[in-house]
Amino acid sequence: MHVEELTAERIDDLEPLWSELREHHGEVGEVDLPVRIREDSWAIRRGHYADWLGREEGFGFVARDDDGRAIGYAMVHVMGPGATLQTGPRVADVETLSVASGARGQGIGSALLEAVEARLRELGISDVVIGVMAGNDDARRLYEKLGFKPFVTELIKRL
Ligand SMILES: CC(C)(COP(=O)(O)OP(=O)(O)OC[C@H]1O[C@@H](n2cnc3c(N)ncnc32)[C@H](O)[C@@H]1OP(=O)(O)O)[C@@H](O)C(=O)NCCC(=O)NCCS
Repeated sequence: MHVEELTAERIDDLEPLWSELREHHGEVGEVDLPVRIREDSWAIRRGHYADWLGREEGFGFVARDDDGRAIGYAMVHVMGPGATLQTGPRVADVETLSVASGARGQGIGSALLEAVEARLRELGISDVVIGVMAGNDDARRLYEKLGFKPFVTELIKRL
C-alpha cells in the first residue's frame, strides 16, 4: 500500500469508495432518511471535489494497493476562519475519509489522516475538523484516538 496525492484527472477512481461510504452511512445512520442512489450521490460529491481542486481550495490523498487500485482516500476542503472560536485564518475540513470494506482496520485510514496532517502543517494550517454521522461510533473512536475532540453537534428535522 502507498499513499499518493489526488489529482483532478483521477477523481473518478474514488467513486467505488464513495459508494461504499454512502452505503455505510445508510447502515449506521440513526436518521430515518434513505441514502441517495449511487449515481446521484457521486454526481453531487464529484462536483464538490472538482470544484475544490479546481479552485485550489482543497486537496486529497489516495491509498493504492500494489496493483494501483484505490483502496482508500481522504478529501479535504480548506475554508476561511470560524467566526466565534479563535481559529487560525484557514480551517481544514476532512470532508471524506473512506477505506474499502475489505481493507479496513489495517491502518489505512490512519495513514491517510497522517498524510493530511503533514500537508496541513506544510500549509501552515493549524485547525482541522472532521464530521462524523451520529451512529458511526467506529469512525468516531478512531478520530478521538487521534486527538480529535467533540466540537459541533448538528441536528436534523424533516418538515
Ligand atoms: C473509518 C475508516 C475510514 C477508518 O479507516 P481504517 O483504515 O479502517 O482505520 P485504521 O485501521 O487506521 O484504524 C483502526 C480504527 O478505526 C476504527 N474503525 C472504524 N471502522 C472500522 C472497521 N470497519 N474495522 C476496523 N476498525 C475500524 C476503529 O477505531 C479502529 O480502532 P480499534 O481497532 O482500536 O477499534 C474506515 O473504517 C471506513 O471507511 N469505514 C466506513 C466509512 C466511514 O465510516 N468513514 C468515515 C466517515 S466519517
